[in-house]
Amino acid sequence: MANVVVVGAQWGDEGKGKIVDWLSERADVIARFQGGHNAGHTLVIDGKVYKLHVLPSGVVRGGKLSVIGNGVVLDPWHLVKEIASVREQGVDISKETLMIAENTPLILPIHGELDRAREEAASAGTKIGTTGRGIGPAYEDKVGRRSVRVADLADEATLAARVDRALLHHNALRKGLGMEPVDRDALIAQLKEIAPSVLEFAAPVWKVLNEKRKAGKRILFEGAQGALLDIDFGTYPFVTSSNVIAGQAATGVGIGPGSIDYVLGIVKAYTTRVGEGPFPTELHDEDGQRLGERGHEFGTTTGRKRRCGWFDAALVRQTCATSGITGISLTKLDVLDGFETLKICVGYELDGKQLDYLPTAADEQARCTPIYEEMPGWSESTEGARSWNDLPANAIKYVKRVEELIECPVALLSTSPEREDTILVTDPFAD
Ligand code: IMP
Repeated sequence: MANVVVVGAQWGDEGKGKIVDWLSERADVIARFQGGHNAGHTLVIDGKVYKLHVLPSGVVRGGKLSVIGNGVVLDPWHLVKEIASVREQGVDISKETLMIAENTPLILPIHGELDRAREEAASAGTKIGTTGRGIGPAYEDKVGRRSVRVADLADEATLAARVDRALLHHNALRKGLGMEPVDRDALIAQLKEIAPSVLEFAAPVWKVLNEKRKAGKRILFEGAQGALLDIDFGTYPFVTSSNVIAGQAATGVGIGPGSIDYVLGIVKAYTTRVGEGPFPTELHDEDGQRLGERGHEFGTTTGRKRRCGWFDAALVRQTCATSGITGISLTKLDVLDGFETLKICVGYELDGKQLDYLPTAADEQARCTPIYEEMPGWSESTEGARSWNDLPANAIKYVKRVEELIECPVALLSTSPEREDTILVTDPFAD
């Protein structure tokens, strides 16, 4: 297959970084198509840990082109810091290895301030639990046609006009929220100062990618967050502000949907969530604590403790459908080692009726109780397994049952953060 999309199939933090890195060895181009520096991808290569937020995971791999597509919202100051930090680790980043779409909207300091002010002002039950990175307000400005985009940094008059347009809206909003108005000239000066460091990488990404596609190059589309945080199909309003599902890969870089050959869904062997919102299989007991401890479930971006629960097959079946997932990569199976009994949610009970999907209405979601199927666990360690023969029989049964319930085959199985600790069933890039 020439072009592969990787999406998180739960609420994010499924372990996409490792899989993207693993696949990037086979790809020529690695492209981010949505989200921003709210994402956190941890890569462990030869024992060296890389923490990436907005840079595509491909940057740590030499000889590849990494791309930030127009579907991303980009904080230029964060970008510069992240580039400096990976360069310090010996990674080479140049305009030959990194391209940023000229039509990418920028995240400005006003976006982060607004994001945090709203969260602080929200009462219990209405807080989203955002990462506070300004993601939502930046996307609002994009659809409100008042973004400053990468290309605008190249021309002083255009930049000033774009800033004025954005501030017309933001200063009115800030007044209502009791915040100080923005110093226009200071903001323009800040943007002019950072401009060369961003423009160095600016390119017509849609054109470059279409040329790569025609030349038969392999493109890997790297999703951030997870399908259950999708602005349309997630647990709204407790979602992120972009489309996360696989269809976004096409619009987020400017390539036709027919160019996508394989969608790989990354699925954690249990469930986690950061931030607020419904989570039917959440555990508040020792089992939940154990999953969190064994899985080191703390956010890469905010350091927040992740909520943990049993595997929800009904939700993953739903995301396999909305993203058209071809095969999954099951991650962190080793975290389940040592549990006597494992539970899998196969559907929900709502007002005496059984459902095989999570309903859309928030009040119904809150009233849904999971219907569980129990499976025997295993006492052996699966950590570092590299073939099916290394897995205990009950672990194999668990994986097979997951496949049946989500109606999608396992393509890859990951058994530790190390790149090589992976069992390959189907190579998404194989013809
Ligand atoms: P925002 O994307 O910062 O607006 O946050 C909206 C919701 O998405 C919050 O619940 C965040 O915790 C969640 N979120 C955003 N990015 C990630 C991620 O990369 N992993 C997991 N959750 C995320």
